[in-house]
Amino acid sequence: MPSDGAGVARWGVELPVVQAGMGGGISDHRLASAVSEAGGLGTIAVPGAGPIAAEIASARQLTGRPIAVNLLLPFARRSWFAAASEADVVVTFWGRPRRRTPRTWLHQAGSVAEAAAAQAAGADGVIVQGVQAGGHVRGTMPAFDLLERVRARLPDGYPLLVAGGIAEPADVRDALEAGACAAVAGTRFLLSEESRAHPAYKERLIDAEETVLSDLFGAGWPAQHRVVTNAATEHWLGTDGRAPRLNRALNQVLGAGARFVPPRIQGRLAAAQRPASRMLGPTPPTDSGPENLVEAGPLYAGETVRRIGEVRPAAELVRALTP
Ligand SMILES: Cc1cc2nc3c(=O)[nH]c(=O)nc-3n(C[C@H](O)[C@H](O)[C@H](O)COP(=O)(O)O)c2cc1C
Repeated sequence: MPSDGAGVARWGVELPVVQAGMGGGISDHRLASAVSEAGGLGTIAVPGAGPIAAEIASARQLTGRPIAVNLLLPFARRSWFAAASEADVVVTFWGRPRRRTPRTWLHQAGSVAEAAAAQAAGADGVIVQGVQAGGHVRGTMPAFDLLERVRARLPDGYPLLVAGGIAEPADVRDALEAGACAAVAGTRFLLSEESRAHPAYKERLIDAEETVLSDLFGAGWPAQHRVVTNAATEHWLGTDGRAPRLNRALNQVLGAGARFVPPRIQGRLAAAQRPASRMLGPTPPTDSGPENLVEAGPLYAGETVRRIGEVRPAAELVRALTP
């Protein structure tokens, strides 16, 4: 079923291309504003009320078009929602959805039940995430299969977006034809000039042919994530992508307290992380972070990585992705 007519225009967005929020500092105002200025919807993903406010202000200097902010529900506090509500769209992920912003609110869901819960809680739209997605993965089936099931369950015309497996214009066209009002891409925009991923991380992804769905980098957030292999995954992972039982047990124990660890301490823990460390946190390597994370941290990437062969400017990507 083709997308309903209103599409993303209802949110003031011109083109049906959304850049996924990528945490750990990968998508800041530079990437988000470049995407939005090109007609898509760019998404800022930084932790903390102060940094969120500063990033929105910087993005506003670079574009007058709508900007989104991404918040992870297990970590986001009330003040973060207040700061994020200065953006045009707030995108939430992971956890029990409820409306916490007067702005347009989208929730990323990995199942029919999660999508229905978000719609019932008043979300203005749902991003359906497939299992092929990069970063933290809630979906358990291919994105288009889930889209079809969610479409059948939710009211006609309710805005759905699809994430996972989007890297080329044909993917976006397929998404629109399948009834989505937009396609959401993370990995494709990670491999843009404006993303803050460490240059060595980008190089690894350009060379990569495959990804692994794992629970290895679960210290502080014991949730499944899709990554490209590095020294840490080589050291710890079995063929099933699972971390050893003791690592998982420690991650579960630490998970509850993670949101209370101040960013300064988290930074120190990340800098001390080595491939053979039993506790491996979720911070990816960025151009301003510690270099050790290229081998000891998560190289988040979706399955599309095998189809991506170059780093390009974000605006060019928005235009290229638009069918
Ligand atoms: C490097 C990276 C970081 C991510 N960080 C977040 C995040 O902080 N919040 C979020 O909602 N989703 C995050 N995601 C998942 C995206 O929202 C989206 O589901 C995913 O990128 C879609 O799959 P793709 O990467 O194959 O395009 C991240 C994805 C990647 C690749």
